[in-house]
Amino acid sequence: MFIGGYISAAGLGLTCPEWPLCPNGVMPNDEYFIEWIHRTVAATTGVLILATTITAWINKSAGKKIKFTSAFASVLVVTQITLGALVIDTQLHAVLVAIHLGIGILLFAMTLLTVLFAFKIGKQIIESKA
Ligand code: HEM
Repeated sequence: MFIGGYISAAGLGLTCPEWPLCPNGVMPNDEYFIEWIHRTVAATTGVLILATTITAWINKSAGKKIKFTSAFASVLVVTQITLGALVIDTQLHAVLVAIHLGIGILLFAMTLLTVLFAFKIGKQIIESKA
């Protein structure tokens, strides 16, 4: 979100006009560096959120709350990455950029709740063993 905010405020949103990769491919390059970081962090975030959701659903100690927040975060992160493509495709359509910000905030909230529920589950397991 921090990198996205910088891209938006610095007017760098269209420095990389293609999706999912910039014209030079997977490797970073001076010209598209900030966009490259935003997309690499987004892809990494996406993989970590999906892995968290799978772990929450197969973990027997996990309750309904963490299953819901992690699954919702997964839906949001996939939507957000797809929306990123549309933001580029429509040359930064104002409504889409605003929705991109809104989904980013919701995604942050769901990720934070998932972390809090995970700590609660961890604490319960430790207390039950003590
Ligand atoms: C986890 C995934 C992502 C999150 C949380 C995220 C978050 C954000 C945020 C918070 C902003 C600032 C919006 C504003 O200030 O109004 C932003 C801007 C932007 N994002 Fe993302 N983003 C994600 C993925 C992507 C992807 C995959 C792309 C495209 C490939 C993308 C393209 C953009 C662009 C082009 C802007 C700048 C818009 C402008 O210039 O106004 N984002 N992002």
